[in-house]
Amino acid sequence: MTTNTITLNNTVHMPALGLGVFQTAPQETSAAVAEALRVGYRHVDTAAAYGNERQVGDGIAASGVAREEVFIESKVWISDYGYDSTLHAFDKSAAKLGVEQIDLFILHQPLPSRFDLTLDAYRALEQLLADGKVRAIGVSNFMVDDLTRLLEETTVVPAVNQIEVHPYFQQPELQRLHAQHGILTQAWSPLGGITSYGGAARSTFDDPTLTEIASAHGKTVAQVMLAWHLQQGRSVIPKSVKAARIAENFDVVDIELTPSQLAAIDALDTGVRGGPEPSGITLENYGMPIPEA
Ligand SMILES: NC(=O)c1ccc[n+]([C@@H]2O[C@H](COP(=O)([O-])OP(=O)(O)OC[C@H]3O[C@@H](n4cnc5c(N)ncnc54)[C@H](OP(=O)(O)O)[C@@H]3O)[C@@H](O)[C@H]2O)c1
Repeated sequence: MTTNTITLNNTVHMPALGLGVFQTAPQETSAAVAEALRVGYRHVDTAAAYGNERQVGDGIAASGVAREEVFIESKVWISDYGYDSTLHAFDKSAAKLGVEQIDLFILHQPLPSRFDLTLDAYRALEQLLADGKVRAIGVSNFMVDDLTRLLEETTVVPAVNQIEVHPYFQQPELQRLHAQHGILTQAWSPLGGITSYGGAARSTFDDPTLTEIASAHGKTVAQVMLAWHLQQGRSVIPKSVKAARIAENFDVVDIELTPSQLAAIDALDTGVRGGPEPSGITLENYGMPIPEA
């Protein structure tokens, strides 16, 4: 089984669908990654802040799949922003992952209140790219104003902006800005996982429109959500620790949603964010030390 590949704006190829490991406990991560690679995934999305980069590396090593066949994506946490600190953040992440080169290395959040530090961190990513330590660079949770300023003040256009996108929160204006600049939209919580954490009132998994479309295709609601993203050109990184769901989430390439089904899912957008307001992220309330390797 395969999934489609996306060509990033610097010509690097990235599998469109990867395994996410946010909230995957370190002791479960290696097995989840190895299982994903066994069923055909070739892309894993982790982050320094998830505390499981080492176990992602262990899972890749245990899988027997060659390092160069796996696209590894990781993120710098805000506590490591600043030029030298971000260069060192790469050393920490690479050592924990057990690799020389990270395929895609991104800033986890903008720090609107310390955009100077954010810009210095991004300039460090540009240096890592020039040095061949990473194959592509990007950002996450950058809103229109953050991205506009970054584009004005730095040189390399980010390859991706990883943002919250699922049927209930779609950020169309930001996605249009990405398209104008050749920035790939990578959807976090692509299944709307964030809509169900903590027993939220309205979960995408129970949505009647999605349920109806899923039954028309003989597929699950999760598979329909992933097909919707992929057909609209987004990268997706669904998270699961369960082997059956890891396989289910990868078995989506043969689904062809009709234009009216795509439009029906587009119409589910509530405009209400599930995750934290990106502008509210500060060093004071979200800073935490990222351990040495
Ligand atoms: N950049 C950022 O700020 C940011 C923020 C959030 C997430 N992310 C990235 O995006 C990835 C995915 O986001 P996410 O983990 O929040 O949400 P998600 O992938 O949309 O949903 C994950 C949740 O859905 C469950 N699940 C997975 N597959 C399922 C299926 N086929 N049927 C029913 N339930 C299913 C999982 O539980 P089980 O594990 O028990 O199966 C988990 O509770 C993360 O792992 C991370 O890599 C990035």
